[in-house]
Amino acid sequence: MRLILATLICIAAIITTAVYQQDLVVEYMRPFVRPSTLNNIAKTLNLKTNSSLSAMASSTTFRGLPVIPPEDPSLNAASPKPRGIQTVFEAREQAEGAGATVRRSIGTPKLRNFTPFLMLDHFSVAVGAGFPDHPHRGQETITYLLSGAVDHEDFAGNKGTIETGDLQFMTAGRGIVHAEMPHDNGDGSSNVGMQLWVDLPKDLKDCEPRYRDLKAAEIPVATSDDSKVSVKVISGRSYGVDSVQELAYTPVWLLDVTIQPGGRLVQNLPAGWNAFAYTLDGNVTFDTGATKQQVARYHNTVFEQKGDQVIAFNAADANEPSRLILVAGMPLDQPIVQYGPFVLTDPSQVRKAMVDFSTYSNGFERAENWQSEIGKVMG
Ligand SMILES: *[C@@H]1O[C@H](CO)[C@@H](O)[C@H](O)[C@H]1NC(C)=O
Ligand SMILES: *[C@@H]1O[C@H](CO)[C@@H](O)[C@H](O)[C@H]1NC(C)=O
Repeated sequence: MRLILATLICIAAIITTAVYQQDLVVEYMRPFVRPSTLNNIAKTLNLKTNSSLSAMASSTTFRGLPVIPPEDPSLNAASPKPRGIQTVFEAREQAEGAGATVRRSIGTPKLRNFTPFLMLDHFSVAVGAGFPDHPHRGQETITYLLSGAVDHEDFAGNKGTIETGDLQFMTAGRGIVHAEMPHDNGDGSSNVGMQLWVDLPKDLKDCEPRYRDLKAAEIPVATSDDSKVSVKVISGRSYGVDSVQELAYTPVWLLDVTIQPGGRLVQNLPAGWNAFAYTLDGNVTFDTGATKQQVARYHNTVFEQKGDQVIAFNAADANEPSRLILVAGMPLDQPIVQYGPFVLTDPSQVRKAMVDFSTYSNGFERAENWQSEIGKVMG
């Protein structure tokens, strides 16, 4: 099993190196925030190595970077400017073995080095397929269930199911081994969702692993004045509605937007964050000020960093609502060296992760003699 896994990791291996100019998250934040806030952030960052954080810290002890940057120039812009579009491309559907298909957009040759995002998969998995026991280090994964359900189980004894509309934020930190398997819905239906891989600030890569489940009912919904736009505020702020805050270590905004025919979304995003929209239903048109670009479903639209807001509308004569997932993340000024599910900042750390995983050390101790129950069907 372990050998097969190692081989799989090798096959899946992607080595990406991107070097950015600065190396401190705090440095990145400096132009945007008051010194006192910056001190708090620095303090927060130091909490990462606080050994009182339990292996699976509860949300009350959890501290990440602020998801809504204080005093952000774009969120507070007096005359906000729309962001331009860098690129638009279709996420092509690929078979991932029997019973599973994936539309991958981030993490393909079309879109790499898009810090802090490493990968975006729009997946469909039926019973018989799935992702049995596998490791991660140095990153976070965010899983959003669009239909059906996914079961998970890890080597620390956590297990559960996320259902339609629920999310799971998983911080791998120094190491996790877990399984993610499609739930048996009893009718053979597929389980569909999105999984986003997010890099961790390098000072946090060594933190204890952690999960945060976000249930559909916990997600506030914002609506435009004319009620033609509704936004599930999974993470971030929309139309004055703030999300639950303690979700991921790396600040990421995630908005599930539905625009009725004739509706127009005007959404500010934090200044300088990388941002994209993944279209799920209908057509949507992005208004960049200079151009209007219509985008069909299953496309990834990558915005320019410059500008304050994303403007999107659904034509008045459209015969269905448009739905898109709008995501923004704070860029991390650090190299990315990725080898399958190990995401570090230099090749020697990646080699160390391989060794640690295979020798059950430095975070992988609990992998020894552990096998998930849910992954056994694929054993
Ligand atoms: C770790 O956090 C706990 C609780 O927040 C605090 O009492 C303790 O002083 C911290 N330890 C260190 C080394 O910062
Ligand atoms: C999207 O736009 C294309 C091209 O204009 C059109 O053929 C298609 O029917 C539209 N789809 C929806 C769902 O409105």
